[in-house]
Amino acid sequence: MSYPFQLRSAADYEQAYQSSVQNPELFWSQIAEHFHWHKKWDAVLTWNFEEPKIEWFKGGQLNITENCLDRHLPAKANDTALIFEPNDPKSATQKLSYQALFDRVNQLAQVLKNNGVKKGDRVAIYMGMIPELAIATLACARIGAIHSVIFGGFSAQSIADRLQDAQVSFVITCDGAYRGTKEIPLKSVIDDALVQCPFVEKVLVYMHTHTPISMLKDRDLWWEDEVAKVVALGNPICKAEVMDAEDPLFILYTSGSTGKPKGVVHTVGGYMVYTTYSFVNVFQYQEGDVHFCTADIGWITGHSYIVYGPLCAGATILLFEGIPTYPDAGRFWDIVDKHQVAILYTAPTAIRSLMGFGLAPLEGKSLSSLKVLGSVGEPINEEAWHWYHEHIGKGRCPIVDTWWQTETGGILISNMAGITPAKPAYATLPLPGVQPILLDENGTVLEGNDISGNLCMRFPWPGMLRTTYGDHVRCRTNYFATYPNLYFTGDGCYRDTQGNYRITGRVDDVLNVSGHRIGTAEIENAINSHTGVVESAVVGYPHDIKGQGIYAFVIIESVHGDADLSKLDIAQTVTRLIGAIAKPDKIQFVQGLPKTRSGKIMRRILRKIAEGAVDALGDTSTLLDPSIVEQIVKGAEL
Ligand code: PRX
Repeated sequence: MSYPFQLRSAADYEQAYQSSVQNPELFWSQIAEHFHWHKKWDAVLTWNFEEPKIEWFKGGQLNITENCLDRHLPAKANDTALIFEPNDPKSATQKLSYQALFDRVNQLAQVLKNNGVKKGDRVAIYMGMIPELAIATLACARIGAIHSVIFGGFSAQSIADRLQDAQVSFVITCDGAYRGTKEIPLKSVIDDALVQCPFVEKVLVYMHTHTPISMLKDRDLWWEDEVAKVVALGNPICKAEVMDAEDPLFILYTSGSTGKPKGVVHTVGGYMVYTTYSFVNVFQYQEGDVHFCTADIGWITGHSYIVYGPLCAGATILLFEGIPTYPDAGRFWDIVDKHQVAILYTAPTAIRSLMGFGLAPLEGKSLSSLKVLGSVGEPINEEAWHWYHEHIGKGRCPIVDTWWQTETGGILISNMAGITPAKPAYATLPLPGVQPILLDENGTVLEGNDISGNLCMRFPWPGMLRTTYGDHVRCRTNYFATYPNLYFTGDGCYRDTQGNYRITGRVDDVLNVSGHRIGTAEIENAINSHTGVVESAVVGYPHDIKGQGIYAFVIIESVHGDADLSKLDIAQTVTRLIGAIAKPDKIQFVQGLPKTRSGKIMRRILRKIAEGAVDALGDTSTLLDPSIVEQIVKGAEL
């Protein structure tokens, strides 16, 4: 398979970028021509950022799974679509050809249909990183059901919130998942969540870990039994539902600075075009390359660069169930050698944690199959960049530092492997079609280079979010109201003298912990629901491995017995209500919080204390009670 829209030189990039800005509609329609449509679009783009209303390829009819699967047959029927590397290196690797993946997606799509799932119904998927997770997402897309994949680390309460918000009628899960030495009892977590969700009609369960589970009569179904019924009928092809380009493909929940996570909605046509285009260009994918993205399909990176982008491009994807340090810190490198991985796409937090093991885990590893390295999810510090470049890429593999978000659907700012220059710790240049702009807090546009500001986008790209599920006003308030007529990313950014972009981190109350986004308000709500807690304030602080750690300042009525035990209890409450990823690293009991006279918590001061920068607290005279700061500094957990 060749990619007519693959850029092959810096000059190609330059030219594509210019065309994409001068005539975006022509630019994107020429790319969209290379996909399979039942009917071409009526209009390439209709948009305004006030409502917002964004429509790409409206009136175009397609099914994304025909682009991921059907159109690769028969030419690629026997080519490997998916390699599965299980948690336990002693368990057998699985390979699915494009034909096999097509067959399994069709079977499951038929199972969903047989159980009453229709176009537009919401289906939640809560599974470990096994091939069936990818199959489940594609089966939903095949029949036009909207999938909502929930990361396997979220708690029953977080699941229930998401199921309620989207009024999910069908859940797909497995008995359990493996993560290193741990077995995660997914089905039992789902059972707990469903106590609050009587509207869920059916739960389909794939048996993976053989963890004992309870199956509820008339609600729970075994995946294998349901598939067997379809096979008994001669395995018919499940006709792909013809979708409008602007029909929703999936909902993915993500944290913001306020309230509960919001359901970011992506639609079929634009998302397909954008993820495929960015995949082929950023990673410079070549036919036959094995692409290993270590993200979980529960996050946007997995949706866009394990499932949809690569499969639309006919790529070979590698799905890994385990963790980088099990059975030892050489696991990624063993996988690279075993499957001759060409592209490794991972997060800085994983690189930093593996760096901590030194070079011993790399002994005896060749890594010679690697061609391109990728980084995503958080700023990559220079030390980690150089280690990755030197010890993993052996100085010969370009590193692409890809900046994007759940809301953007695909990579917006990144160098293109070997085509445009890399610069350590810089995401570098916008992709064609992407028009970044920096503004100060007052909304003044910051022209020129060597300047820092808040990062916005001034023109739509096909992969961007269309709404937040069930609450369009929230979408507007969150992303389109801060700066009129612009999409606001929530990130701070520096543009260097050559126009390269360096993302400096969030400018709102959102933390990025090990590449995972968590709102401070969400964690505070969880802490505040713990008995005896009066109030709390959560901030991030620099953490060597996670990027940011979670520091909670908590006012508690009284500590009964051991303070450390009380802290442990609070941390457990957060884990129970959200999931282990939101568990505070440090909890400090305080008498009060630094507040302005209008009652607003001065987080700037708490951040400085958490960082240990107590000499740089700045002006505290506007505080209601400046003496509180001194008390907090004395008791700080450094
Ligand atoms: O702050 C940015 C950071 O991650 C945020 C988006 O998080 P999420 O929606 O969970 O998506 C993560 C995977 C795409 C951004 O607002 N971020 C993501 N990539 C980078 C980054 N920060 C710096 N450099 C990056 N390459």
